[in-house]
Amino acid sequence: MAAAVGRVRTIVRRHSERFERSIPLIASENLLSPYAKELLISDLHSRYAEGLPGERYYEGNEQVDEVETLCLELARRLFRCSFADVRPTSGTVANLAVLKALTEPGELVGTSRLADGAHISSAAFGAFGLRGVKPVYYAWDAERMTIDVPRTREILRAVRPKTCLFGLSLFLFPMPIDELRPTLEEIGARGWYDAAHVLGLIAGGEFQDPLREGCSVVSASTHKTLPGPQHGILLGDGLPPELAQKLQSGAFPGVTSNHHLHAMAALAVSLAEHLEFGRDYAHRTVENARALAGALHAKGFDVVAADLGFTRSHTIAVRVEREGGGEAVARRLADAGIISNKNLLPGDKSPKHPGGIRLGTPEVTRVGMGPKEMERIAGLFDDLLHRGRTTAEVAAAAAELKRGFTTVRYCFGAGEAAYRYYDLVGRDPS
Ligand SMILES: Cc1ncc(COP(=O)(O)O)c(C=O)c1O
Repeated sequence: MAAAVGRVRTIVRRHSERFERSIPLIASENLLSPYAKELLISDLHSRYAEGLPGERYYEGNEQVDEVETLCLELARRLFRCSFADVRPTSGTVANLAVLKALTEPGELVGTSRLADGAHISSAAFGAFGLRGVKPVYYAWDAERMTIDVPRTREILRAVRPKTCLFGLSLFLFPMPIDELRPTLEEIGARGWYDAAHVLGLIAGGEFQDPLREGCSVVSASTHKTLPGPQHGILLGDGLPPELAQKLQSGAFPGVTSNHHLHAMAALAVSLAEHLEFGRDYAHRTVENARALAGALHAKGFDVVAADLGFTRSHTIAVRVEREGGGEAVARRLADAGIISNKNLLPGDKSPKHPGGIRLGTPEVTRVGMGPKEMERIAGLFDDLLHRGRTTAEVAAAAAELKRGFTTVRYCFGAGEAAYRYYDLVGRDPS
């Protein structure tokens, strides 16, 4: 069996080395800081704590209580709000907690379509279906890649959902919550914002601020533009006490038992680091997204929303039908060391054949790349997909570019190896 342990270690090492050589452009991924990463293998990983600080169901939680109290304080400070819960173990779990708190089975809930960029949480086969709520879809303006406000006002007035969810997985532009706010008030609907993708941009002042614009509840993952551990969070401002209590009991016992204390402690570190470095990091992340989009456009790629400046977030979308379609292009890029994902885009004929790819800049920014490197990355796309350079040639050029960018930035202890965890762990068993 020691051989199996060694094998797993070897495979994961190969994975890490592959990412060290690659250009990682998945919009939902990021790298942990050294201080946050260390906590993932601390003793907290072995422990249980149910409930809230000071009201646990297990003994031995005094230090956990201190860490969680600090984590909650940091979250409220970073997002300038009065309510936080750091017990959801992922963004989807956070969404389920909100659904449990705000809705009843059978209710209608406003949201966007998957084809317009919504997350599978909004689908009948995802969290919405689990809670038994039915989506009411907003109208979409495919030109502007955002909600069509006048037509959505009509839909909301006709259907009158009590809860309206805003937020996307293909999130290029802010949601028009401010513009829809009077309609939400008119029909008595509560605004809920899924900030999984844009949490770090919101905290860094680079995107809309949903808690100031008309949403009272925010759910999110904590590992995308907020470069924290894989975990979830709930935020709120000015909530009536009974709603805050419902959200807390949605988190526990609703959708979690133990809340992954090692990740919660790592989140506390990541929140503290974002308070210090988040503005700069968020600014450069968006700057890089726009630079990458502009450079790809200049090389003849059909980057979505060219007339609108491509994006105001960390994400860009590129239609690649001419280059062979989303599936084939994402695969060819991965073989050449550029990691992205195929993505459905509005107007695609079949969900099975996405016409686009989604690219994001959280990780390349985290390792210190800037607009100059975005130009070089666009050049690699052009070489592979337009100029007939071989996969091996482009993979070698990608690895060469990446060589100078393998340490993590925008955190305390910056400059440590971002990918090579195994240097710390030691030899294989034999
Ligand atoms: C908008 C949105 N919400 C929720 C999630 C789910 O997050 P997690 O993977 O943390 O469950 C995602 C994941 O990509 C997302 O894009």
